Amino acid sequence: MTDDQGLQGTRLLLGVTGSIAAYKAAELVRAFTKAGAEVQVLMTRDAARFITPLTLGTLSEREVLVEIFPDGPAAGGSWTKHVHLGLWADLFVVAPATATTLSKLAHGVCDSMLTATALSARCPLLVCPAMDHDMWLHPATQRNLRLLREDGVRILDPEHGELASGLIGQGRLPEPDAIAAHVATLLSEMDDGEVEEHTPEQTLTGKSVLVTAGPTREPIDPVRFISNPSTGTMGYALAAAAAERGGAVTLVSGPTTLATPPGVTRIDVTTADEMYAAAMQHGGADLVIAAAAVADYAPAEPSAHKRKKEADPANEAGEVVLRLRRTPDILAALGAQKRKGQQLVGFALETQDGLANAQSKLQRKRLDWIVLNYANEDGAGFGTGTNRVTLLGRDGAEVALPKAEKGRIAGAILDRVRFQGAWGPKEKQGPGV
Ligand code: C5P
Repeated sequence: MTDDQGLQGTRLLLGVTGSIAAYKAAELVRAFTKAGAEVQVLMTRDAARFITPLTLGTLSEREVLVEIFPDGPAAGGSWTKHVHLGLWADLFVVAPATATTLSKLAHGVCDSMLTATALSARCPLLVCPAMDHDMWLHPATQRNLRLLREDGVRILDPEHGELASGLIGQGRLPEPDAIAAHVATLLSEMDDGEVEEHTPEQTLTGKSVLVTAGPTREPIDPVRFISNPSTGTMGYALAAAAAERGGAVTLVSGPTTLATPPGVTRIDVTTADEMYAAAMQHGGADLVIAAAAVADYAPAEPSAHKRKKEADPANEAGEVVLRLRRTPDILAALGAQKRKGQQLVGFALETQDGLANAQSKLQRKRLDWIVLNYANEDGAGFGTGTNRVTLLGRDGAEVALPKAEKGRIAGAILDRVRFQGAWGPKEKQGPGV
C-alpha cells in the first residue's frame, strides 16, 4: 500500500465481540474509514449489549450484521452472506476479541454471523484480544491463541494497563489508531509479499527455543555484588511470545521479580558463569535469543566473608581496589558453535554509535538478527514496559520499529525469524486475498 492514508481502497470486516472495550469499536470504524477503507461490521449478540448496531451501522454506512439466520420473511436467501463477505474482504479484524470468541475461532465453532464468516473467510484474520489479565493468562486462553497461530491467524497482543475490573495487568485493547496502524502495516506487508498470514511454518511449533533474560550478579562478597538495572521484561516477553507460538521454550533467567510465562521452562541462575553453563547446555536450540544483560566483568577474587571496611588497607585513602575479570560472552560462544539452520538473535544496548556497534556485534557473534535499543532514551531500554528498537538482519535488513510495549516488540522480532526452507512464497488463495 503506497497511499498516505494507508488503507485507501481496502475492504475490512470488523468483528466486534462482547467486551467492555467494544465501545472503542466506534472509534475504530472511524479510524478505518478515515484511512480510506470500506468497513463491514459484524457483531455478536453480546457485543450489542455494550454498543449498539445503530452506532456502528451509522459510522460504517452499512447495515451491521449480527444474526446468521435473521428472523422474518425478508431472511429468505440471505444465509450465504457470510461466505460472500469472506471473499469480499482483504482482512477480517476481530476487535475486541473476547476469550469466548477466541475459543470459538480456535475450535471452528460457527454459531453467529461473526464466527461463521471467520470460518469461511479466505482473507487473513487478525484478532485483537481484550479481557481481564487472569483470563488472558489462563492456560485455556493461551492454548486457544496457540491453536489460532497455528491456523495462520494474526494476533495483536493486548496492552498492559488499567483494566475494567479495576486491576492492573495485560488485557487492554490497544487504542483504535494503533490498531488501524497495525492493520495498515499488515496489509502493506502482505502486498509486498513480505509477510502473509501466519502460516504453520511461521509458528514455532516443533522448535526448541532458548531465551536468556534479566541481569546477572557478580559477587564481591556474600552481601555485595556488581549488576545492572535489567528487570528481564524484554526477555520474558520474548519467552512468552515464543511459547504462545508453540515453541518449547527454556528461559535461563538472572534474578528478576517476574512470573514464569505459561508453558515456559525456567532455569534460575545468578552469575554470568552460571548463565553460561545453563545456556551452553541448551545451546543447540533451533532459536536462541540472548536478551540477558550479562555483567561483562566480575570480581576476580570474591571474598568468602563480608569485607570489612576497617580491615581494608586502602581505606585510609578512601579507595578500594577491586580486581575484575572478564565474564564469558555467552552469545559469542553460541555463535562460535552455531549449527546450520539455527537462528541466533542478540541484543545491543547502546548509548552512542548504535548502528555501527550493533552491526559489528551482528557479524562478530554470527547472529541472524540483532535488536538495537538505546539505554539513554525515555521509554526504551532497562526497566520500562516499552521499547523502541531497530532490527538489523544478517541479510542487511534494517527495520526501525515504532515505540511499543515489549510484548508487541517481542512479536515483531519473532515475526522475522525464518527457519531455512520454511519460508517459500505463498500462493494466493482466491478472491479477496
Ligand atoms: O557485546 P554486548 O554485551 O553488547 O552484546 C550484547 C548481546 O550479547 C546481548 O544479546 C547479550 O545477551 C549477549 N551477551 C552474552 N554474554 C555476555 C555478554 C553479552 O550472551 N557475557
